[in-house]
Amino acid sequence: MCPSLSDCGMRGKRSDAVRDADVLAQAAGQGLDDRPSRTTNRVMTTILLTGSSRGIGKATAEALRNRGVTVIGHATRSTDDHTIAADLTDPKAPRRLWDEALERAGGRIDVLISNAGVFESNPLDASDTDWMDQWERTLGINLTASAQLSRHAVLHWLDKGQEGRIVHVASRAGHRGDSPAHWHYAASKGGMLALHKTIARAYAGKGILSFAITPGFTETSMAGDYLASRGGPGLLADIPLGRVANPEEIAAVAAFCALDAPPSLTGATLDANGASYVR
Ligand SMILES: NC(=O)c1ccc[n+]([C@@H]2O[C@H](COP(=O)([O-])OP(=O)(O)OC[C@H]3O[C@@H](n4cnc5c(N)ncnc54)[C@H](OP(=O)(O)O)[C@@H]3O)[C@@H](O)[C@H]2O)c1
Repeated sequence: MCPSLSDCGMRGKRSDAVRDADVLAQAAGQGLDDRPSRTTNRVMTTILLTGSSRGIGKATAEALRNRGVTVIGHATRSTDDHTIAADLTDPKAPRRLWDEALERAGGRIDVLISNAGVFESNPLDASDTDWMDQWERTLGINLTASAQLSRHAVLHWLDKGQEGRIVHVASRAGHRGDSPAHWHYAASKGGMLALHKTIARAYAGKGILSFAITPGFTETSMAGDYLASRGGPGLLADIPLGRVANPEEIAAVAAFCALDAPPSLTGATLDANGASYVR
C-alpha cells in the first residue's frame, strides 16, 4: 500500500493526474475555442442542452456560454433565438429537436446534456388510469426522450467518426428511491443511470463518453413546492450540509462533465447532494 506518493518512491516526480489537473485548470480560464478536447486535439464547441429555460438548465446554459461554448437550448416553448421548442411528451419530439439542433449547429453537435425533466406527484391511491397516465408521462419525458436523444447523438457521432459526450442529469432518487408518490420519478432516474452506464461501456473505445449527475434537492421551482409540502426546513435535517444545492452548483458539475472531465471518468456518476446520500 502507498499512503503517499513519496512513500512509493515518487518524490520529485509529478503524476499524470497532477499534470492533467494543471492542464484543466489552465483550460478553465480560456474559451473553448482556444483549447483542444481532452480526447484528441479537436475542439468541442456545440452543445444541445434540454430544459434550458429554468432552474438547473438555465444555470448550465449560462455557465457554458461564459466558457465561450455555443449552446443550443430547449424548452416546451421557445423564449429566445437560442431555444428550440419541443414538448417531450410527444414521442416524435426528440427526433424533431435533434434534427433542428443539428441544422442550427451546421451539422455537428459535440455534447448532449439531457436535463429536461418533471417531478410530479402520483399518489398511490389515484385511479388506475390516472396513476398509469402519470407513470407514462414521467417516464416519457425523463427517460424515453433522454434515451431517444442519446440514441440520435450516438448514431451521429458513430456516423461521423467523431467523439462526443453525453451528460445525463439524473437524481439522487435514482439511487435512493423517492417518496411513495414518486415511484415513477425514481424509476425514471434509475433507468437514466442504467442508460448512462450502458452508453459509457459500449462506446468509450470510440471516444463517446457518458457522465451522470445525481443532484439531491436543488433550489428550483421543481423542488420548491415539494420542500414546502414536506415541511420545508424540517427536511433539511436530512442534509448534513444544512442546505439544498443551488442551480449554479449543479451547473458547475454539468459544465465540468461537458468540457473538462478526463476521458477516464466516463461511466462515472457524480453525486451532488450535500452528503444526504453517501454511496
Ligand atoms: N430541483 C431538484 O431538486 C432536482 C433534484 C434532482 C434532479 N433534478 C433534475 O434536474 C433536472 C432539471 O430540474 P430543475 O429543478 O431545473 O427543473 P425545473 O426548474 O422545473 O425546469 C425543468 C426544465 O425541463 C423542461 N421541461 C419540463 N417538462 C418538459 C416537457 N414536457 N418537454 C420539454 N421540456 C420540458 C422545462 O421547460 P419549460 O420551462 O418549457 O416548462 C424546464 O426547462 C431534471 O431532470 C430534474 O429531474 C432536479
